Amino acid sequence: MPGDPKAAPYETSSSRERMTRRGFLGQLAELGALTAATSMIGCGSQFPGLQPLLRKSTITELEPLKAAAARQNVLFGAATQQQILQSDSNFAALFAQQCAVLVPENELKWETVEPEPGIFNFEAGDALADFAAGNQAKFRGHCLVWHQQIPSWAGNGADAQKQLTDHISQTVGHYAGRVHSWDVVNEAINPSDGRADRLRDTVWLRSLGPSYIDLAFRTAAEADPDAILVYNETGLEYETGDSQARRAAVLELLGRLRTEEVPVHALGIQAHLVGSENRFRADKLQEFVRAVADLGLQVFITELDVIDKHLPGDIGVRDSMVANAYQRFLDAVLREPAVTTIITWGLSDRYTWLATFMPRSDHEPVRPLPLDSDLQPKSALYAMLESFRAAAPR
Ligand code: G3I
Repeated sequence: MPGDPKAAPYETSSSRERMTRRGFLGQLAELGALTAATSMIGCGSQFPGLQPLLRKSTITELEPLKAAAARQNVLFGAATQQQILQSDSNFAALFAQQCAVLVPENELKWETVEPEPGIFNFEAGDALADFAAGNQAKFRGHCLVWHQQIPSWAGNGADAQKQLTDHISQTVGHYAGRVHSWDVVNEAINPSDGRADRLRDTVWLRSLGPSYIDLAFRTAAEADPDAILVYNETGLEYETGDSQARRAAVLELLGRLRTEEVPVHALGIQAHLVGSENRFRADKLQEFVRAVADLGLQVFITELDVIDKHLPGDIGVRDSMVANAYQRFLDAVLREPAVTTIITWGLSDRYTWLATFMPRSDHEPVRPLPLDSDLQPKSALYAMLESFRAAAPR
């Protein structure tokens, strides 16, 4: 993984002066670079909706992201992996410093938890639950029912329903009382599969019909009546035809579940933002969040990061555009009281799924997260602090 493993996480206490100086002066240097870069590549024309304005951050005092969020009664955290926390003590310290909630990136997915029918393996999940508890962070589960990262036997055969209910009962039951929330069903919508209900054509849908979703939530609620049960979805954020169709389908699904008294408590908006996407309308996104809230649901932002694949190579320009994407999105959703939880999908560029899944054509390291691969704050962290500080208290 890139980055200097010896680089200690930035401190917000004793070395605040150093960090502020570096941060603030670093910011000024970046602004200079940005001015040059912007005029040089005229990237304003390429991204009209995301003018890479000079980031004139109002932040001169850094503080942990969880602290700024908590002042507005918003929960901030991130996804991470057990092997990362185990092998990188500096990152582990940073995670504990910044995050009030931990979600396992992969350790609670079906392929890891139940690789063979009835054979459960909670070791990695337990290690993460213990780390969260040891650092006064909440623990959220991800994800019980998905079409990816499941073993080949799952969902197939006459006992698909029993497979589903056994998996959920055992997994949720194992963590009962220790989990803040569960992503019970993940990414069940896919308009391009052509169904009238715009559900994704998965093994679960083919085996059990649309009611697999109802069954998953009811089973999870029985196993842990105290956990917040979340329907998690991707691709909801923009004014593209696909996003608009997804939002409509999500509202239709959640409306049905609520009418049929299925125990769903929140919508998870994954928010894998696209740094080069300018078809974003804050008012439309807020309208969607309000429509979800009108169903009596909370809204969690569950996998926030910014894909910089198509952004300019210049780091000053790229970091500023990524920061703008964070701020534009968070300013919008945090205007809605229903949004109570913000989770980034990773915390530092040192560890991000996007390095593998969305590499840049110039082969430069991707820079999607609030801290860089040396665990130092980026413009995105400043932007997030600004958004948290500007948010109305819940
Ligand atoms: O564990 C194996 C390891 O044994 C093997 O050596 C290695 C090389 O093949 O692969 C490892 O598994 C990888 C796994 O992550 C754990 O690291 C898989 O190949 C890899 O595909 C998997 O990627 C995960 C991806 O979901 C799968 O679609 C990412 O880490 C994870 O960040 C990503 O997260 C998803 C959310 O769960 C749902 N929303 C979308 C998001 C991004 O796809």
